[in-house]
Amino acid sequence: MILTAKPVVEALLPGLTAQTQQFIAARRRAPHLVVILMGNDPASVIYTTRKAQAAETVGFSRETLAFDATLPREKLFSVISDLNARADVDGILVQRPLPPHLDAFEISTWIEPEKDVDCFHPDNVGRLMLGRARLVPCTPAGIFLLMNHYGLSVAGKRVAVIGRSPIVGGPLAVLCNQANATVVQIHRKTIAPAQVCKEADFVFSAAGKAGLVTTDWIKPGAVVVDVGINRNPVTGRLCGDVDFDAVRGVASAITPVPGGIGPMTIHALLENTLQAATLRA
Ligand code: GUN
Repeated sequence: MILTAKPVVEALLPGLTAQTQQFIAARRRAPHLVVILMGNDPASVIYTTRKAQAAETVGFSRETLAFDATLPREKLFSVISDLNARADVDGILVQRPLPPHLDAFEISTWIEPEKDVDCFHPDNVGRLMLGRARLVPCTPAGIFLLMNHYGLSVAGKRVAVIGRSPIVGGPLAVLCNQANATVVQIHRKTIAPAQVCKEADFVFSAAGKAGLVTTDWIKPGAVVVDVGINRNPVTGRLCGDVDFDAVRGVASAITPVPGGIGPMTIHALLENTLQAATLRA
């Protein structure tokens, strides 16, 4: 089975749009999302454009603040402080990767936790770790929305999470654990990663390395979720971490790239923004 995002998003959008209309009717304003783009990294330009379009589609108001990559740290701090103070702003996100003079952790601490729709602020990460999340990071949240739609549950199962970034691998492993999976995390220092991965009933790859996951990493019948967004070094086409054409013959279910987790992340951002607006109201 190919686990595409399209039917999932089509099933979820009407409910989200209806909830947004209810919010607007009750509060006399739309949920408001601010997307901050530093510089002109081509992938970041595409993602921030998609996030802004998706926000408009469900009836949010939104703004994109695009700055030169050289914007001083103090200026960005003052921009974020102003957004924190604005009553009409519900969600703030600073698209990553950031220019080298900006520290991603430090910036995550500047955003008011209630408006942190990425769930990168240490308060929100701490809440997540403790099983008391207000907001769930968009990519892991999107993965769970996709799996729920297709009736897939990790409870009791062996899960391999490849990668340990604060955006995906770290929180995803925590959430799988809280969903009663038995979780192993695979990373650069893992000895015999293919062997470890082949034990898993669910494989979540968030390594950012094209062609990393081949058939010898996958147990027959496993569910494979590919979070990688890479360029094929030969063809230049968008691809995940997983050798899709080969692995689809071994896995029972697999997500495509593009059209798998990418659109789910955007949908989860919208859900987070409405959630943030509702919690603040
Ligand atoms: N870059 C890649 N994924 C993300 C994300 O979920 N949020 C932000 N802010 N930047 C990203």
